[in-house]
Amino acid sequence: MIVLVGGIKGGSGKTTIATHLAILRAASGADVLLVDADDQGTASQFTAMRNEKLAGQAGYTGIQLSGMAVRTEIVRLKSKYDDIIIDSGGRDTGSQRAGLTVADLMLVPCLPRSFDIWTLAKTADLIRQMLPANPNLRVSVFLSRTDPSSLDSAEAAEALKDAMDVMTFIASPVGARKAFSQASAAGLSVTEFRPRNEKAVAEITTLYDNVFGK
Ligand SMILES: Nc1ncnc2c1ncn2[C@@H]1O[C@H](COP(=O)(O)OP(=O)(O)OP(=O)(O)O)[C@@H](O)[C@H]1O
Ligand SMILES: [Mg+2]
Repeated sequence: MIVLVGGIKGGSGKTTIATHLAILRAASGADVLLVDADDQGTASQFTAMRNEKLAGQAGYTGIQLSGMAVRTEIVRLKSKYDDIIIDSGGRDTGSQRAGLTVADLMLVPCLPRSFDIWTLAKTADLIRQMLPANPNLRVSVFLSRTDPSSLDSAEAAEALKDAMDVMTFIASPVGARKAFSQASAAGLSVTEFRPRNEKAVAEITTLYDNVFGK
């Protein structure tokens, strides 16, 4: 499956989710390609750090692509991998659009604040423009970096209802937990990082199951 983690909002947790999905998918035995399609190169930096930490055993292959190459290289590489995860930047870029022409699923992390939820209307417009090029594209939105004072899933789903023709809201929130930033800073996933934060592990596992099936 080709999963693009995207949206048009910065800092929503895209790289955190993309790297976690790559690690968890690879740990299940799949041959995984992680495509860093964000010119900031955060996912590539993470992979380099991870390879350094684990003596070259990141578990997946990481590459960086930009612009139309996101499409052309993925079309060429897709038969060589079981799954491809694309980390796109937090803006409407040519790289993200190129990725959306080849993705099976677009996964959109959304911060649980009104302003961020409202930008989903713009993301929905982007998807409507891309659907003719990729009619099979599915889009799932979930709340990212939630805390106890956040909008809950029901409120977010209500705020999202005008965009529901092109996206599905999935109730797999990922909490704002130090474990995610600590694990990422160490080149690890929360499933690998010690001490293990069971809530973080449960949240990312539920999201993973939602994306790849149990
Ligand atoms: N669930 C979480 N809990 C705590 N911290 C998080 C969580 N998700 C992400 N972060 C932290 O928030 C910051 C932004 O996360 P990340 O880089 O994954 O977002 P992004 O959407 O990829 O950003 P950009 O739009 O710049 O690419 C990072 O410092 C990361 O460690
Ligand atoms: Mg990022």
